[in-house]
Amino acid sequence: MEYPGARSLLQSHRSIRRFKDTAVPQNIIDDLVESARWAPTSHNVQAYSIIGIRSQEMKEKLQILCGDQSYIGQCPIFFVFVMDFYRHALISERQEAPFEVDEIENLLVGAVDTALASENFLLAARSYGLGGVMIGGIRNEAEQVSSLLNLPKWTVPLMGMCIGYPDQWPNQKPRMVKQAVYHEEFYQTDGVESLLLEYEQITSTYYAERTNGKNSRGWGRRMVDYFGEKRRAELTDFIKKQGFSLK
Ligand SMILES: Cc1cc2nc3c(=O)[nH]c(=O)nc-3n(C[C@H](O)[C@H](O)[C@H](O)COP(=O)(O)O)c2cc1C
Repeated sequence: MEYPGARSLLQSHRSIRRFKDTAVPQNIIDDLVESARWAPTSHNVQAYSIIGIRSQEMKEKLQILCGDQSYIGQCPIFFVFVMDFYRHALISERQEAPFEVDEIENLLVGAVDTALASENFLLAARSYGLGGVMIGGIRNEAEQVSSLLNLPKWTVPLMGMCIGYPDQWPNQKPRMVKQAVYHEEFYQTDGVESLLLEYEQITSTYYAERTNGKNSRGWGRRMVDYFGEKRRAELTDFIKKQGFSLK
């Protein structure tokens, strides 16, 4: 069976940060969850949970905790995608069996599972004419977010997602050219620098247009700034507190 429409859905992605004041019907939300549930998952571990938040008061609290990103309060419904080993811990405890999630491996399993479920969710939303943006800012104050959402041990909020009917349709943000990200047979380092220079030009023009000339820093300069400082250093302690020793 072919699904040509799926490709145009995938390739027309852009993050949406402004929404119409229209509620998203519950039957659609249920179907987005259904699509998330069918994401592939490492060893069928299914290490994620999703929390849907319509309450304006809660959205506004989360908005503040996520670095005051206004679209969280503005979207009709906000979701939090949680890496979740609570259920696994529970079964092991009931059976008095060892529960070995100390290795980084399981953290990767949980992060990948949660990311796959969330992307399925967003794409399903797009299929209904909805749009959205993922919110990594949910990890800014992970501990406060967790107590607000009553998250148990063995869980970590990994990303949020604003969902609603788009009130904007921005130009797509240019991606790196295919040769920079796809290799055949072997990893190719030759030519990478010239591809990056080319991308710097493209993204510099894109950002200059997007910011009316105020900020024309291209992708490379943005990445240097981004990786030039430590981020969310306290998250490591919180992840350990949630039970993952990160050995
Ligand atoms: C895991 C993840 C976390 C993100 N966190 C935020 C965020 O906190 N705030 C935001 O405005 N955009 C966030 N984004 C959206 C990215 O900035 C966006 O996907 C990227 O710049 C590419 O732009 P595009 O999605 O419009 O193509 C996040 C995206 C991902 C995948």
